Amino acid sequence: MNTLVVLATGGTIAGTQGDARDGSYQAAQVGVGALVSAARQFGDASDALAPRLIEAEQVAQIDSKDMSNEVWQALAQRCRHHLARPDVKGVVVTHGTDTMEETATFLDHALRGKLRSDQTIVITGAMKPSDAIDADGPSNLAHALMVAADPSWPGVYVLMAAQLHRAHDVRKAHPWRVEAFSSGEAGPVAQVVGGATQRLASEPVATPSRASMQPVGEWVWSGPPHAWPSVAILTCHGGVEGRWVDAWVQAGVRGLVVATTGNGTLHQSLAVALKRAADAGVAIRLITRCAEGAVMPSGETPWPLSEEVTPAKARVALMLSLSSVP
Ligand code: SIN
Repeated sequence: MNTLVVLATGGTIAGTQGDARDGSYQAAQVGVGALVSAARQFGDASDALAPRLIEAEQVAQIDSKDMSNEVWQALAQRCRHHLARPDVKGVVVTHGTDTMEETATFLDHALRGKLRSDQTIVITGAMKPSDAIDADGPSNLAHALMVAADPSWPGVYVLMAAQLHRAHDVRKAHPWRVEAFSSGEAGPVAQVVGGATQRLASEPVATPSRASMQPVGEWVWSGPPHAWPSVAILTCHGGVEGRWVDAWVQAGVRGLVVATTGNGTLHQSLAVALKRAADAGVAIRLITRCAEGAVMPSGETPWPLSEEVTPAKARVALMLSLSSVP
């Protein structure tokens, strides 16, 4: 149990700006070996990581705005492969920040029941490219490796800006600040100070991360990634038109996540069209479009509420539930 594995997928953590003076840069340029070398030299972590064997593998090299079912499947399969090894304590995934919350949800659900009780997956990235004078990638990766090595953190997490977030709660909350990630009302579970991880939150309620603490089991999905069910997101707002729902149904969606106004309310034209979609066999999940808080059920909600914290995360969870073999 001395080995940590870094699986790289691209993002700003692997980005370069070169001579650019205008803040522009190219994501996904630097290989995983260079990222790990920089993290190993980071002061806080160099002692903690020195005795660890760190393996590195390039799973993809993309800007995460282009995340696809194919990359998700490859990532999940490489996680499963390594976590089935008796010597592997944890996996760290380097990733672009733009869809990091979706990949956290994906791995949390897809690997549920497939991690041993002492195993950890930590996803991390950076808001500044690797050659920026104030690059945050080396410290984030170093801290993520420290958490992955620590037996106190079984399950799936995101580590950014020295804060550890549960996969279930995390979302990107700001487009450019270094402290770009939030766990909303739940708050981060820990912060890294110097070489130590300080616990902030008490025991979590039953989240997918907690449910994932089971022995490694069988992959339960059927079908290739291009055939995974199409799930779309629709936002309720003034002037929304029901015929847009009909267009999604005609396009073959199997699921619709609806970001409702306020506490789960729906424009009447949307409600009527969603009933038509549900009658046609489309699975519907409701979530609020508000940045914080979950819908508080009151009376009858016409369709199930998503248990996720953002529409993008709800989309991933619904896609997985529609593509899993019971
Ligand atoms: C990306 O998501 O790949 C680019 C942006 C970032 O990593 O911050």
